[in-house]
Amino acid sequence: MACHVDFKGEQLVPVAEGQTLLNASLKAGIPHYHACGGKGRCTTCRVRVLAGQEHLTPETDAEKTIRAVRHFPGNVRLACQAQVTGPDVQVQRLIKDDADRFIFINGEQENITEVTGERRKMALFFIDIRNFTPFIEAHLPFDVIHIMRRMFSLTRNAIEQYDGRIIDTAGDGLYAVFGMDTKIKKATESAVLAGLKILEDVKIFNNTYMRPYFNHNFEVGIGVHVGKVIYGNVGIGLNNNLTVMGYPVNIAARLQAATKEVNNSFVISQRAYSLLKNPPYSMDSTMLSLKGVRTEFEVQLIGKPYQYSNASAQTQ
Ligand code: FES
Repeated sequence: MACHVDFKGEQLVPVAEGQTLLNASLKAGIPHYHACGGKGRCTTCRVRVLAGQEHLTPETDAEKTIRAVRHFPGNVRLACQAQVTGPDVQVQRLIKDDADRFIFINGEQENITEVTGERRKMALFFIDIRNFTPFIEAHLPFDVIHIMRRMFSLTRNAIEQYDGRIIDTAGDGLYAVFGMDTKIKKATESAVLAGLKILEDVKIFNNTYMRPYFNHNFEVGIGVHVGKVIYGNVGIGLNNNLTVMGYPVNIAARLQAATKEVNNSFVISQRAYSLLKNPPYSMDSTMLSLKGVRTEFEVQLIGKPYQYSNASAQTQ
């Protein structure tokens, strides 16, 4: 067998039968990291297989052990272990210089999938606390921060109870995703259950704390959509900056913003709603014009109409 392996962005490397990817690339002059000398221990030789995975030898025991410990995605192989058995294999080295080595190896306690990035269907969840500005203006900084912490903790508990992950916070809102480890139907169910729990918990918080102590009622707006997004860890900031990007994220944010316009606290896209096995009662379905979206967008309104939209009526 004489064939070539395409090291993406580098060169086409000839491979002989029984030769590992690492041997072939080193022979071709690629400065392929191999800190343990090809013994399957260091993982610095790792590559992402972009094509032709079926033309590589099965995982060795060393790879199986490392995969179990470090949770490599299925398409990452150790070049010192994998041999080529057929044509059309394309791989990409993941560690190309010392900076890469630092990112990948030092961050190894983190999830390798997050470091290498992945495209995945997820449920995207945006929530914003309504009528917070009048509260800020009427209360001491201590109270404002304390209440904000209470509201965020209530929100975070519900999101984490349903295995969601908070990606970012901005002002009095936050953004979370569901489906890092589950299929999209389950992820959507979880996002909806978390949202409904938050609505219920905010009601209780208003009754037992906010009204008695502050004569104020909070309301929230929630938007949920589903779709394929890219997620990965860019290595800085909140959450070690797990980032989730893509068009569906923008849609979910706009659905959240639309809660005001449609006067309902929970707006979910029809696409997400149709994935639910036991969909909650929807007060209405409607078509929305969303900024940046060419056609009208069908949504279901599964929250409640706002009761305290006139902020001045409720602050002290
Ligand atoms: S060179 Fe160390 S694991 Fe491959």
